[in-house]
Amino acid sequence: MLASAGPWVVLKFGGTSVSSRSNWLSIVATVRARLVAGDRVLIVHSALSGVTDRLEKLITLASVGEQSGGLAELESRHLTLARELAIDSAAAALAPCLAELAQTLAQIERDSRTSGGYVNERLRAKAMAAGELLSTTLGSAFLQAQGLSARWVDARELLRAEARSAASERAEYLSATCDFRPSATVQSQLAALGPLVITQGFIASDARGDTVLLGRGGSDTSAAYFAALLEARQLEIWTDVPGMFSANPRSTPSARQLLELTYDEAQEIATAGAKVLHPRCLLPVRQYSIPLFVFATQSPLMQGTRISAAPVNEHAAVKAVCVKKGITLVTLDSPGMWHQVGFLADAFAIFKQHGLSIDLVSTSETNVTVSLDPQANAFDGTVLERLLADLSPLCGARVIGPCASVSLVGRNIRAILHQLGHALELFAEQRIYLVSQAANDLNLTFVVDEDQGDRLVEELHDLLIGSVRTGDVLGPTWEQLFAPTRVVSAQQLPWWQQKREQLLEIAQAQDALYVYDSATVLERCRQLRSLTAVSRVLYAMKANPHPELLRLAHQAGLSIECVSRGEIERARATLPKLAPASILFTPNFAAREEYVWALAQQVNVTLDNLHPLEQWPEVFAGKEIFLRIDPGSGRGHHVHVRTGGTRSKFGIALEQIERCAAAVARSGARVIGLHAHTGSGILEIGNWVETAEVLAGLVNLFPTVRVLDIGGGLGIADRSGGNGLDLLALDTALTAFRARFPALELWIEPGRFVVAEAGVLLARVTQLKTKGSNGYVGIATGMNSLIRPALYGAHHEIVNLSRIDEPSGHPVDVVGPICESGDVLGHDRPLPDSTAEGDVLLIATAGAYGASMASHYNLREPAAECVI
Ligand code: LLP
Repeated sequence: MLASAGPWVVLKFGGTSVSSRSNWLSIVATVRARLVAGDRVLIVHSALSGVTDRLEKLITLASVGEQSGGLAELESRHLTLARELAIDSAAAALAPCLAELAQTLAQIERDSRTSGGYVNERLRAKAMAAGELLSTTLGSAFLQAQGLSARWVDARELLRAEARSAASERAEYLSATCDFRPSATVQSQLAALGPLVITQGFIASDARGDTVLLGRGGSDTSAAYFAALLEARQLEIWTDVPGMFSANPRSTPSARQLLELTYDEAQEIATAGAKVLHPRCLLPVRQYSIPLFVFATQSPLMQGTRISAAPVNEHAAVKAVCVKKGITLVTLDSPGMWHQVGFLADAFAIFKQHGLSIDLVSTSETNVTVSLDPQANAFDGTVLERLLADLSPLCGARVIGPCASVSLVGRNIRAILHQLGHALELFAEQRIYLVSQAANDLNLTFVVDEDQGDRLVEELHDLLIGSVRTGDVLGPTWEQLFAPTRVVSAQQLPWWQQKREQLLEIAQAQDALYVYDSATVLERCRQLRSLTAVSRVLYAMKANPHPELLRLAHQAGLSIECVSRGEIERARATLPKLAPASILFTPNFAAREEYVWALAQQVNVTLDNLHPLEQWPEVFAGKEIFLRIDPGSGRGHHVHVRTGGTRSKFGIALEQIERCAAAVARSGARVIGLHAHTGSGILEIGNWVETAEVLAGLVNLFPTVRVLDIGGGLGIADRSGGNGLDLLALDTALTAFRARFPALELWIEPGRFVVAEAGVLLARVTQLKTKGSNGYVGIATGMNSLIRPALYGAHHEIVNLSRIDEPSGHPVDVVGPICESGDVLGHDRPLPDSTAEGDVLLIATAGAYGASMASHYNLREPAAECVI
């Protein structure tokens, strides 16, 4: 053992961290490194994962007198890990603790027979403590087996709960708080044990010597208490993610690692919903300025989050977008409350009587709305009913919920409100019940319907954080850190990987070139044609009007959707056999002559406004037409591509539908189809089903309707390994709809789905540059060929086709030659470090809205196109 009398570091490991051999090996390596550096190490750890829940269940079963095999199961869970860790005589080591647990459970069972099932909180706390006592017994045995002379100590001998005058018995035993002032006694107790000590999180004792708990998630708090008591050099929280992230990385893979935070920012993020760190653990370390690190046990060498008093960077910025669900709002209406002394005091006193803690508050002259956070309140319907009854003499009170609070967290949010303008547009289609700007200027919170929470987080995160460059504060994305190294068979490789040689050969002749794979286009058409509920698939040619692609789509049985005279002319010139009735014309704000011309061509014409019908009724007299309806809300990968709701220029508003029917009748037109397209890049099946429902609801008004066109917008996976659209689920849902409306045909009109994955943009590397820590790889074309990254922040996978087998290197920005700072095709892309002038980069999923949106900006020719 390495002797050391250096400062203490406290290392806390969570349940997952201590439940496998590989994690324990990494714990050993970390501990050795700290000891070698001269530190003394206190390990604080949790129960094995799932054990605390099992103990709770055992207590409940005991309280209803049910014998179960639960204890044996608990023992075997620990013995299984012991075998994995090759610990001899584990059964003997665990036995005393298991015997004590058995006794406590028996006592609970006896007591509850006389108390009608009530479980004494003292016994509950005692039984729950077994989880940590058992796991640390294994932990210390493993460390010793690895040659580290770790000493086990019972945390209850070191951590003392403080007496809280007003606390209930339940709070005293189950969510105790401890005195954490630096303690010479605790310091000498530990010093006597040597430089490596292991103890339990979550448990402490009170003045009577009874076991108490520090509340769920209390191991973080234990560790922070120990750090303060020991005046530790630093506290390290080891968990299953490498630090705090700018959003929950499990649901937002583009969440960024947060490298540096202040205590108050970390507290805010932890409180606003992030589960990495328990918010209570920040107080002790902050009070004694002990830096706190969050690391991932399974990746011990990876940088984590450092939380301290000294920010490296004072800039105002949004650092995280957090969501909390299960929020209940109570809104209090009282016309007479303005300037009425004591209204709030009276109202809040009633919340207090019901034991309800208020989180957010928003006030006006006649209304006060407050939120109740489920973490701070255990309430059910009856508590709320009683609350409302008691409030009713004072004001009109109502409950709204379930809601989600979505918070933007960061320093000096007030200073950057103007930068949020674009992001706040996202709320255009939302009902916002409450907005709260925190008094400490660390968060801006919106309360919305619960089911909107996740989507808003995703989109706000994308807009506010997604494209910020890697620096001192925002690190790499979760995906970049953990991109799965997939083992793929040649069959599953994207077509461009299978045809790499051919592509490199084609690229020799040109510096920048779009290449489309006809087999992929045909395959996508085949998939769409196999939707049994859909009578007609139209290719939305705006996605890519290349003649050869039109031919392929036509050959595969697709009709064509056009939005301009130019598109109709292109379709007819390319496909001379295409019947005019196979074309659907869906213009928006086109001039009168364009409708006159299109009707003369005998294509299907869609009107998406009352103006043509009311101002030029003669144009449509005796004609069959489609009406494009705005179903009231839009969806899609970016605000620019959502085409529903009053903020969108498309479609006829539902509220004007009666007026529309009257105008149709006056004009003498016949409506044969209803149409709606809510947006682009959608992966939720519900989109098309809901659209179909809205349109079906209007058929009574337009009895001549035979077709419901439910639009395009079918999304694709823009990252390899990402989720695409579940076509089978779509077909199943639409089939159920059709069964109710067998007389109506369903049409869809996808663009992206047909061609996006079939196209790649190849471009030669022109120059390399480094500025500070940023690397740039320049290529022969940029936003003049592919504007999607600049316009929507769209993600396109980029690979160095010339060096596809070389390992990823330092992330670089891939940029074009256009005179705009937005001319970036991909931020922070891990291209091989050997990337050199002349290499061919491939930009994937570029078949849709690439060439069709290209420009001659800067008088640079956009990339040429070819089909293979
Ligand atoms: N139908 C109508 C009436 C449309 O407006 C559109 C697309 C579609 C069908 C086909 O949508 P798709 O299946 O391709 O998503 N430039 C944007 C996309 C704009 C889509 C405009 N309308 C992008 O690059 O993502």
